[in-house]
Amino acid sequence: MKGVVFTEFLGLVEEAFSADMVDDLIDATSPPSGGAYTAVGTYDHAEIVAMVVALSARSGIAVPDLLATFGRHLAGRFHELYPVFFERASDIFSFLSSIDDVIHAEVRKLYPDAALPQFEDRMLDDDVMELVYRSPRRMDDLAVGLIERCAEIFGEWVAVERSARPDGAVAFVVRRVAEPASA
Ligand code: HEM
Repeated sequence: MKGVVFTEFLGLVEEAFSADMVDDLIDATSPPSGGAYTAVGTYDHAEIVAMVVALSARSGIAVPDLLATFGRHLAGRFHELYPVFFERASDIFSFLSSIDDVIHAEVRKLYPDAALPQFEDRMLDDDVMELVYRSPRRMDDLAVGLIERCAEIFGEWVAVERSARPDGAVAFVVRRVAEPASA
């Protein structure tokens, strides 16, 4: 997994908890890489999973909630770092349908060793998209946070439902809604 994911995760932990919590997670999980992550490095995906599990134990926040919160944070950072991908799309659905063919394709050009998921999209009606996610890393909780926050960047709100497929894929049904689900 690319180092940018690790540096953004630890940045969020520092902001939301403390620098001590960052040190504690690295000490507690003894990552084989040593834990001195750089944005352009590549590290074992298992290291971030171990840190999320350790953070869950320390914070009492469930792993799926931590990953969705991290996904929301990452979407905001991607918007700051790579605004062009957002400018190219007219709404959340055209943005989501560009993940595979445009966004992650560019990521792969920059980082040929990137471990990226696959997405297949189809519109079910004007306000509903089915987005099928496939990845051996099963980071669908992260994807939910990314999708929700990206919609907000387009000034839209979506409700995301998901269902697991027998082949290991996860199907998201992304529905445009008038107000945030929590309102
Ligand atoms: C400008 C927008 C985006 C950029 C620049 C971007 C870039 C990246 C990068 C650099 C990685 C790490 C690859 C690796 O670790 O080797 C990644 C992974 C990932 N991306 Fe994106 N991404 C973007 C938008 C999205 C969106 C909107 C989604 C949500 C559906 C998404 C879903 C994921 C997931 C779930 C992963 C984790 C790896 C996996 O599941 O296998 N990305 N992305």
